[in-house]
Amino acid sequence: MQWRRRHCCAHIVKALSVLGVLVFLVHQVWQPRLTGMPWWKGHPVVFGGDGLQISKPTVNSSSKDVIWKSVIVPQETVKTDSNVSRENEIDLIEKNTTSNSSQNAERNARSAGNGFFPYIINEPDKCAKLNSPFLVLLVTTEARKVEARNAIRETWGRQSAFQGLRVIRLFLLGKTEGELGLIQQKTLATESQRHHDIIQQDFMDTYKNLTIKTMMGMKWVATFCPRASYVMKTDSDMFVNTEYLIYKLLRPDLTPKKNFFTGNNMRNFSPNRNQDSKWYMPRDLYPNPRYPPFCSGTGYVFSGDLAMKIYQVSLTVPYLHLEDVYVGVCLAKLQIEPTPPPNEFLFNHWRVSYSSCRYSHLITSHGFNPNELLKYWHHLQNNKHKACLYLYNKKA
Ligand SMILES: *[C@@H]1O[C@H](CO)[C@@H](O)[C@H](O)[C@H]1NC(C)=O
Ligand SMILES: *[C@@H]1O[C@H](CO)[C@@H](O)[C@H](O)[C@H]1NC(C)=O
Ligand SMILES: *[C@@H]1O[C@H](CO)[C@@H](O)[C@H](O)[C@H]1NC(C)=O
Ligand SMILES: *[C@@H]1O[C@H](CO)[C@@H](O)[C@H](O)[C@H]1NC(C)=O
Ligand SMILES: *[C@@H]1O[C@H](CO)[C@@H](O)[C@H](O)[C@H]1NC(C)=O
Repeated sequence: MQWRRRHCCAHIVKALSVLGVLVFLVHQVWQPRLTGMPWWKGHPVVFGGDGLQISKPTVNSSSKDVIWKSVIVPQETVKTDSNVSRENEIDLIEKNTTSNSSQNAERNARSAGNGFFPYIINEPDKCAKLNSPFLVLLVTTEARKVEARNAIRETWGRQSAFQGLRVIRLFLLGKTEGELGLIQQKTLATESQRHHDIIQQDFMDTYKNLTIKTMMGMKWVATFCPRASYVMKTDSDMFVNTEYLIYKLLRPDLTPKKNFFTGNNMRNFSPNRNQDSKWYMPRDLYPNPRYPPFCSGTGYVFSGDLAMKIYQVSLTVPYLHLEDVYVGVCLAKLQIEPTPPPNEFLFNHWRVSYSSCRYSHLITSHGFNPNELLKYWHHLQNNKHKACLYLYNKKA
């Protein structure tokens, strides 16, 4: 009797461990992923190293091995004095658009108002020094979020991690009123001198002014960095897998796209008419029953040429405080459709529960405090190369 009971228990234990392995396998197979070979095999990138080179594969015909060679990606040259003339040019467009709208005066008074605010802090030469960057990261933030900015500087926004590829990081800010504002402004000035990654204009930094902030970023790219290949706009509470974005989605080895806009695609959304909602949209501001397709403001990516186009068309589009919807309306007016990302797991405007396997195959995840960002980032850097190997070995 005794023996039999123990024997039976051993069977149960065996069955449970087999079940465990099965659950693990199913879990692995359900990970968000792109098809094909493990992406890190495609481009030997090391974060925290001394920078990287872009590689392009060739196949060794005798051994059939894939060989990665460093290649120099041709960069267009920007005339060094271009920033001044460029600014004049953009001011002209502004005057043209606004001077010709007497019948639309009220409409325009409500249009984004963007660009009409003077800079308090600017980095006009940041891009010119780097020639034409591959990617400009525009991160909306507020003065008090110093730790979030520092965490981003050390993690996904680390410019030096991409020395072989030019990546620029810019934090976008308005200003805070009052005593607190004065104190914050001093800290911000020091931070700016140290990192040279802050642009700030003279508008009140409020939720309802987020569209002004985004348009400040668009105008900055159009003015000071018009030949950037790509731009990403995101927030300071985001986790962004920059490496995956660059090497898997944007692909520096290809000719940069034009009129390209992607992110978490929101289609057929209706305006929220509930006054208590954060996303409330009054009927008189936006009467249509549906929004045009737009991409969640937590993270969207677009080709550099669109910065100018969106900015320019925004001068004739009435202001909406929901910046992502607003950019969607601008795109609709430009007759540009956002491109759906290659898979629906890439851009997440919620928080995806962490696993190094998942996080090495996504681009955005929402809702991180600075400590979490640092913790998960470092874990990912140490584990991204092994996390999903089993899955891919099985598939290959
Ligand atoms: C290709 O593979 C062969 C055999 O492994 C090796 O001898 C040769 O050096 C390789 N060629 C290149 C260019 O790596
Ligand atoms: C760019 O503009 C800034 C001021 O707006 C000026 O100080 C700087 O010299 C300009 N750069 C070049 C290369 O002309
Ligand atoms: C301003 O408008 C005029 C007339 O519509 C046009 O010829 C000119 O090119 C415009 N200038 C700019 C900078 O867009
Ligand atoms: C102003 O608008 C009218 C029609 O809307 C157009 O014919 C005219 O060329 C515009 N003027 C400028 C300076 O853009
Ligand atoms: C947006 O900023 C402007 C300029 O500082 C300010 O006048 C306005 O009150 C702000 N709007 C909101 C809704 O905070």
